[in-house]
Amino acid sequence: MGVQMKPLMLGAAFAAVSCTTIIALILSLANHQTLDQPYSTQYGIVFDAGSTHTTLFLYQWLGSKENNTGIVSQSQSCDVDGDGISSYVQNPPGAGESLKKCLDFAKSSIPSGKQRATPVYIGATAGMRLLSLQNQSQADIILAEVAKTIRSYPFDFRGARILTGMEEGAYGWITVNYLFESFIKHTFEGKWVHPKAGRILGALDLGGASTQISFSPKDPVRVPESAFNLQLYGYKYEVYTHSYQCYGKDQAMKKLQAWLHKNAGASSVVNHPCYHQGYNFTLTLAEIYNSPCVVTPNNLNSTAKITFLGISNSSLCLSLMEKIVNLTNCTFSPDCGIDGVYQPPVNGEFFAFSAYFYTFNFLGLAPKAPLNLVLSTIDSHCNKTWKTLVAQNPSIKAKYLRDYCASAHYIMTILLKGLKFSNIWDQISFEEKVADTDVGWTLGYMLNLTNLIPSERSRAITGVTHSQWAAQTFFIVCALFLSLLIIIILFLHDPKH
Ligand SMILES: *[C@@H]1O[C@H](CO)[C@@H](O)[C@H](O)[C@H]1NC(C)=O
Ligand SMILES: *[C@@H]1O[C@H](CO)[C@@H](O)[C@H](O)[C@H]1NC(C)=O
Ligand SMILES: *[C@@H]1O[C@H](CO)[C@@H](O)[C@H](O)[C@H]1NC(C)=O
Ligand SMILES: *[C@@H]1O[C@H](CO)[C@@H](O)[C@H](O)[C@H]1NC(C)=O
Repeated sequence: MGVQMKPLMLGAAFAAVSCTTIIALILSLANHQTLDQPYSTQYGIVFDAGSTHTTLFLYQWLGSKENNTGIVSQSQSCDVDGDGISSYVQNPPGAGESLKKCLDFAKSSIPSGKQRATPVYIGATAGMRLLSLQNQSQADIILAEVAKTIRSYPFDFRGARILTGMEEGAYGWITVNYLFESFIKHTFEGKWVHPKAGRILGALDLGGASTQISFSPKDPVRVPESAFNLQLYGYKYEVYTHSYQCYGKDQAMKKLQAWLHKNAGASSVVNHPCYHQGYNFTLTLAEIYNSPCVVTPNNLNSTAKITFLGISNSSLCLSLMEKIVNLTNCTFSPDCGIDGVYQPPVNGEFFAFSAYFYTFNFLGLAPKAPLNLVLSTIDSHCNKTWKTLVAQNPSIKAKYLRDYCASAHYIMTILLKGLKFSNIWDQISFEEKVADTDVGWTLGYMLNLTNLIPSERSRAITGVTHSQWAAQTFFIVCALFLSLLIIIILFLHDPKH
């Protein structure tokens, strides 16, 4: 073999490697295309009908015939104008009417060919639970009006109902852990795997009318009715959950006003330590006592007015909280939450969302801050005058600005004293979203009702063979290439040549 043959051979070998690599790449990409074909984008809509407002969430995911689904993500959300649906007692059709703007928005966001297959759920929470306690028929009428409106749209309407507190807590927990991929992880190669070392998060939700705590306790729960058992992707979970009715942020604010009114004698002007100096607020007694969460005094003159005068007194404000948070022990002491309710010791990391987040975010304490910084920040916030506060936050509406001090002290009282987080404060993160998806009960609700989280492992893992196939292709191509190389070498070695 001549000396000049060697570079030629190397050149040929290089060309062959390049060609085969490109062929392997094309083949594997082409295969990926055909594998993706049966998947198409699917949509789902959930209305969260909360006590103070309603929000529409539009979710999307890749679905296939086998219902092997990709990750569900939130593609849009829409805030319904006006108050929560429970405020439409005098005008039930108005509750349905209020949803139209967001339904139109959803309709314009979903391709027309997909609309009929898009499930729509509307779930109402503590605001409607309270209304149904006061007058069941009024609650039913409002739900019927809301259902009538949604039925007039070209979607697959799956019903309007009031969630129980336990469902609300459970679905919030499912949402958090689904978004954090605690149950199962979707890898880059398109495989579903169970993450090592179960990092299961707890969920803390503070709504307007109720608050929920849900977590997976270290030891089996002592009161079976307070837990639910789930099997997701072949793994079993025991989750403790409790929803405290009337412990939502807005009901807590009402309880404060009622307590201050009852302890003010006959006076119609009352100091409010949580309101800021220079702020005053007048309302009728009917507005304070219009909820089953406050006990109406005998002989209430409901048209009488009361004025609360802000005095910016942080420590007095904090001490008031124990008047409205029932810290009585329970029969399972020390395993107690609020109100004499059984609660196993809190365990692991927690994710605090909704009003927990909004309050801490306003104070600059989200997602995490050390306890001493939290306490000093709340103190200095509460001690500010109204004038200072408004000057610092010109764009925030007075009705929100007014309540941050009281809600911050309220949150600290329920978390540290009620739900017993004082020793694991640093385990709580105050956040609103994970992967651009709002955290709340809605996603967990839809995942469960559309069977998007299989309970068995096999269903989750079948069908994803793309990486296997690519490896096989690559092996075959390599083998072909080697044969080719051997033929070339033999050819070049041929002495007759
Ligand atoms: C799979 O999805 C289709 C369409 O969404 C549905 O009709 C079918 O019942 C689902 N099958 C299972 C086993 O969940
Ligand atoms: C409940 O509401 C309905 C409809 O508004 C009304 O007719 C009825 O009297 C109410 N019942 C009670 C107990 O307030
Ligand atoms: C506090 O909760 C306990 C246990 O449920 C109950 O017996 C008690 O009446 C409550 N106290 C107040 C002031 O509501
Ligand atoms: C999920 O839905 C099923 C019915 O499809 C129900 O039996 C189950 O209790 C639900 N899970 C939770 C946590 O509510």
